Amino acid sequence: MTFFIFPTVINLLMSAFAMLEPETNLESWTTRRARTIVADALRRDADGAAFVAMTADLCDYVANNPAFRYAALEVDSNAPIRGSSLELAAYFQTRDGIDIHGAAFRLESDPNPNARGLERTMNTPIGRAKIIVHGSYFHWDDVPYQIYASFTTTNIMTYGWLAGALSLIAVIVVRRGLSPLRAAAANVSRIDVNSLRQRIPSDELPTELAPFVDAINAALERVDDGVARQRRFTANSAHELRTPVSMLTTRVEKLEATPLKLDIQRDVRRIRTIVEQLLVLAQMSERSNGAAEPVELDLVDAMVAIVADFAPVALDNGRRLELEAPSEPVFVFAYRWAIESVVTNLIENAVRAEPKNGAVLVRVAPGAVIEVVDHGAGIPASRREMIFEPFWRSSEETPGTGLGLSIVRELVEKMKGTIWVEATPGGGATFRVEFPSRKAPVGSTAE
Ligand SMILES: Nc1ncnc2c1ncn2[C@@H]1O[C@H](COP(=O)(O)OP(=O)(O)OP(=O)(O)O)[C@@H](O)[C@H]1O
Ligand SMILES: [Mg+2]
Repeated sequence: MTFFIFPTVINLLMSAFAMLEPETNLESWTTRRARTIVADALRRDADGAAFVAMTADLCDYVANNPAFRYAALEVDSNAPIRGSSLELAAYFQTRDGIDIHGAAFRLESDPNPNARGLERTMNTPIGRAKIIVHGSYFHWDDVPYQIYASFTTTNIMTYGWLAGALSLIAVIVVRRGLSPLRAAAANVSRIDVNSLRQRIPSDELPTELAPFVDAINAALERVDDGVARQRRFTANSAHELRTPVSMLTTRVEKLEATPLKLDIQRDVRRIRTIVEQLLVLAQMSERSNGAAEPVELDLVDAMVAIVADFAPVALDNGRRLELEAPSEPVFVFAYRWAIESVVTNLIENAVRAEPKNGAVLVRVAPGAVIEVVDHGAGIPASRREMIFEPFWRSSEETPGTGLGLSIVRELVEKMKGTIWVEATPGGGATFRVEFPSRKAPVGSTAE
């Protein structure tokens, strides 16, 4: 754009202020067009004699400018070419010895005191010739013509490099100006439902963009409020449900032992698990959304505590729970409550899958990995992704809601870890949770 507009603008300005040629002024725009029309009308007849042909352009111009007169002269002899105004040509020839080439002049016979004439030597279809015009007036349609005529090779060559440099500067300035916007966009693209507290800093942005960024921040604020309200609602509902469910459990216990009682007890247990899972979900978003960063903790220590808690429950179910851990601590950055929830869920599933009298193994493996190994039916490779979907269960027969593993995966990912399941050699499933590893702090001693 700059390339094409710039030469025109400069040329127009220079013409308007008469900087390009001494005789150039607004008036000369009209003579330039008139001259060109006359020059383009020069032809030779069959005998080789030159004449001014009445081309369509010339006819038009003459029709619109009744006072317009023109002449064409041979360059050397000043002899008028056929079709020229003889009065003009004669006027020119009386100036013997004085060269008024290029100067503006006035025909005394013209009643208009402001009428001006101009002579120029120009390139025409039949070679160089002197073209004289007189009495052409400025018309608004001269302006587009002037713009069109300013696209000469010289103009484009002269201003081309300038236009090129300007375009380059424009590109650099725009890119630089918009770089804060790109940075802001990168910030926005990192925001998800867990990082709604973030705001886009608007102080480094160009003032024009500040209202836009402020609007985004205000929208984030509203979304954050809404999400927080919903989280509180889930947490409160789950919490409120806990008491009646506990009361229900106690009441059912007092019922007479009938098959119906067993059914109701199973249903109540199911409701209880759902309520517990919902609470964990709500806590998870509440706690990890807060300022609390994962803290450094010892995986071995955490596993000892969890296995100690869960071993009696497993024993009641006729399974053993074993722990295999290195003697020195394994430090990771994590939330203790989240690790507890993860491992408890995995152990619960494993104990359910483990055949009677079998042993579920919890192992802290090298590289900050926790393994929960059972020897049950295992999980076919085709289902190893599905089991992490919410509410997915292999059969409706098993107790549970199918929420456990989806919560587990979300918790693990919150702590920047990964979880996957493999087959236990000899049959069964092995769940592995890998944390971003962390070397033991300097100075700590192995126990
Ligand atoms: N160790 C395992 N061995 C075999 N199948 C498993 C094992 N762990 C999970 N599964 C399968 O994956 C399904 C989903 O497990 P998940 O923990 O998500 O739900 P759940 O245990 O059924 O219910 P919840 O944990 O919510 O009480 C289980 O129903 C079970 O079919
Ligand atoms: Mg489960």
